[in-house]
Amino acid sequence: MSRRLGACIALIALGSGVLLLAAVSLYRIDAAVSIARVPYGIWLGLVFWIALSLAGSSLAVRMPGGSLVDVSFAPIVAAMSVGGPAVAGLTALIGTTQRRELRGEVPWYGAVANHALIMAPAILGAMVLQEIPGRQLAVVDFLATLGAASIFFFLNYMLAATFLSLRSGKRFSASLRADAGGWVSMLALAPIAWLMAQMYVKAGWWAVLLFALPLYTTRLAYQRFVEVREMFTETVRSLAEAVDKRDTFTSGHSHRVQKIAMDIGKVMKVSDDELEALEWGGLLHDIGKIGVPDSVLLKQERLTRDERAMMNLHPVLGAEIITPVHRLAPELPIIRHHHEWFNGSGYPDRLVADEIPRLARILHVADAFEAMTAARPYRMTPLTPQQALVELRKFGGIQFDPDVVDAFVRTKWVLDMPDPGRPEIRELPLIAQVAGQLAQAVSTPPPALDAGTIPADPSHSRPATA
Ligand SMILES: [Fe+2]
Repeated sequence: MSRRLGACIALIALGSGVLLLAAVSLYRIDAAVSIARVPYGIWLGLVFWIALSLAGSSLAVRMPGGSLVDVSFAPIVAAMSVGGPAVAGLTALIGTTQRRELRGEVPWYGAVANHALIMAPAILGAMVLQEIPGRQLAVVDFLATLGAASIFFFLNYMLAATFLSLRSGKRFSASLRADAGGWVSMLALAPIAWLMAQMYVKAGWWAVLLFALPLYTTRLAYQRFVEVREMFTETVRSLAEAVDKRDTFTSGHSHRVQKIAMDIGKVMKVSDDELEALEWGGLLHDIGKIGVPDSVLLKQERLTRDERAMMNLHPVLGAEIITPVHRLAPELPIIRHHHEWFNGSGYPDRLVADEIPRLARILHVADAFEAMTAARPYRMTPLTPQQALVELRKFGGIQFDPDVVDAFVRTKWVLDMPDPGRPEIRELPLIAQVAGQLAQAVSTPPPALDAGTIPADPSHSRPATA
């Protein structure tokens, strides 16, 4: 546990404890929470709401971003509405206990954080609710409960994202967005919570149990969402692996390119969406090789001009394969343009410099570094990372975006290695710019230039990228 995380947990635990003390000592428990006109009815009512919340917590679903989402939000908001801050606080404190905590699978500080992150917002929401006048009118009570539930939700969401980002090292904004869908659908339980409170007061505790079914179906929806997303993720991974495994020399290539590209993206401070595009784009960049015959893909001798043209079509084929998948739209430019050269002599569209999408320029460097440092049939002894860095620097401004190479130098892949630095500034060849503009003007992609158009260099007798 980092010092910042420890300080954060201590602070939120202390704040929650003070709030619970204030809720118990300053606010009277509303008699409406009494389950029946019997001795200890108030305590029985409290136990009822805690038990309902425990049932909701026992069905928690782990979202893809790492947070746990469950339907205990509804009974806690209902307890807030019926009994006030003390009942809300105690329900949130005890009613969110999970089985994995009882089994000792959660470290003590994690359990403290989990309970404090829910209890403090629940008490604050209930305190605000108590101060709203005119709640004897149903519409006012409904709106006030929605407002209090929103405060509870918002504070809980912010605190959970802070905790998650301190624990995982992810950016705060990334933690906020990671499971936003699941969180927002949780807020949609607020009207159900108000109805539960109304039924409890007007019809009795048994009527609240009728809400078990809609709450359970909501939980099922969370689970289906996670399952579908996991299935999508695994399918994409398998697809990328299937492409890599066609050639024993490139097994695991896409996975390593993904890691390198994401590290460069982090150094360049790309947005969370762009980082996600690099994640998927890294895995799928060579998906178009599915359409390249084995006789060309696995050929160990020098490719003929026709074979080279066929091989160079793989970015276009990849983009065509991915186009129908709406979810992968941000990855399309990466897949199509990951072989464009900074000076305009790449393929398929011969884009120049900034015309090439930034993420494709990042992926190009990651792809080249990985390819150079791995064995290939045409170069059985791979370059060392140091030698590959020299190559990247040498071809900065020709093949690679020098800014991206600058960022790559600051990643763990070549950190602390001697950096030759940027070569002298090269003017982009005018002929390449004109060629790029002409290529864009026609609908069919031009035949790709072969490697002979680049400066003579033994490592580039075939393209540096796989
Ligand atoms: Fe490629």
